[in-house]
Amino acid sequence: MNPPWSPTSWRSKPIQQQPEYPDSAHLAKVEATLASLPPLVFAGEARALRSQFAEVTQGRAFLLQGGDCAESFAEFSAPKIRDTFKVLLQMAVVMTFAAGCPVVKVGRMAGQFAKPRSAGMETIDGLSLPAYRGDIVNGIDFDERSRVPDPERLMQAYHQSTASLNLLRAFAGGGFADLHQVHKWNLDFIASSALSEKYHQLADRIDQTLAFMRACGLDDAPQLRETSFFTAHEALLLNYEQAFVRQDSLTGGWYDCSAHMLWIGDRTRQVDGAHVEFLRGVGNPIGVKVGPSMDTDDLIRLIDILNPDNDPGRLNLIVRMGADKVEAGLPRLVRAVQAEGRQVLWSSDPMHGNTMKASSGYKTRDFERILAEVRQFFEVHRAEGSYPGGIHIEMTGQNVTECIGGSRPITEDGLSDRYHTHCDPRLNADQSLELAFMIAETLKRVRPT
Ligand code: PEP
Ligand code: CO
Repeated sequence: MNPPWSPTSWRSKPIQQQPEYPDSAHLAKVEATLASLPPLVFAGEARALRSQFAEVTQGRAFLLQGGDCAESFAEFSAPKIRDTFKVLLQMAVVMTFAAGCPVVKVGRMAGQFAKPRSAGMETIDGLSLPAYRGDIVNGIDFDERSRVPDPERLMQAYHQSTASLNLLRAFAGGGFADLHQVHKWNLDFIASSALSEKYHQLADRIDQTLAFMRACGLDDAPQLRETSFFTAHEALLLNYEQAFVRQDSLTGGWYDCSAHMLWIGDRTRQVDGAHVEFLRGVGNPIGVKVGPSMDTDDLIRLIDILNPDNDPGRLNLIVRMGADKVEAGLPRLVRAVQAEGRQVLWSSDPMHGNTMKASSGYKTRDFERILAEVRQFFEVHRAEGSYPGGIHIEMTGQNVTECIGGSRPITEDGLSDRYHTHCDPRLNADQSLELAFMIAETLKRVRPT
């Protein structure tokens, strides 16, 4: 039996990765203000996503999760939101059409600001300052003023999240995501690439299908004109998350209404820690990052705590081992979950185990290793007879040069051309589409027809 839960019960548990605010009265005031403001999502939407997760867990759909590693205040604009949304739509349509598989779309957007760090302090030329923890906490510039955690940033993150979500909702329901617009989702800067050509061929086939449906009098279903789109972020700053906990007026259950889905990072998933305590009590669908250090007993204990009812829509295990570790590390976890009869949604984050430093000093990821990790993930699930349910990636609709490789290869020397990320290197539109086509091909083979 799990002990009683409350929105504040996490406060008595050991906690990792929190900033140290110099002015705790200021922080408390901001927390109270946030708690009095409207939440971003409604509990019923989180339940709708849970039903869709259940479909994925049972092999009837695929989960696509993507967006920035860290959203930033400076890079906040309608075109940036629109372009990331476009690429996610493109990826989803490729998988849906090429593999005949419904795709559940979740953005790392409208709240993905806080970052866990490997060290609390950063030292440059003998000067030590608090590490940058994301725009919701402090500034990225390496000077004392920027790096002091500032509670007002929580307010700015909230307002930016509401504006982003408002636009995403408008795009999803207001005609932008209409399948009849499928050609227009392509971004100008990939217009001349091989991937763009491949995408247009698929879009032509969709147009033909829609024309056929129209001729048969079948093309007025709302599903063709609008789409569902959900948001997610790492629930890292628990005082921020607590401010969005609401008791649902329909069911009486507690929900964290800062996003539809929340996940726990690889650094904060301690079974007796504050993050697990907080998330076990809210009814949203929950993710847990699963890195190479996860052992089978801890995984089962986490599942016991986070999904005691064995609900197929509740828990997403996001595997992020690295291309060279997944083949050895994943099978024992899949077997343990199967032996215990636990229902979980397995997805692959092929980004976080494959970060490296280029000789030029840039933090990067090799696209080949990203593809290799996804292939291995599918292969392990094939061998173990379980369902590889999704992908979780860091990507953007901007024409960035952050990950090396791809069909229009980015070289180590080219990284400096357009390296804009505030944290980890992201796939650009070309690389994201290439990954989507690869997954669609694989899904075609693994899904029962
Ligand atoms: C992330 O998703 O940005 C992240 C920090 O991942 P992980 O917890 O897997 O390292
Ligand atoms: Co990241």
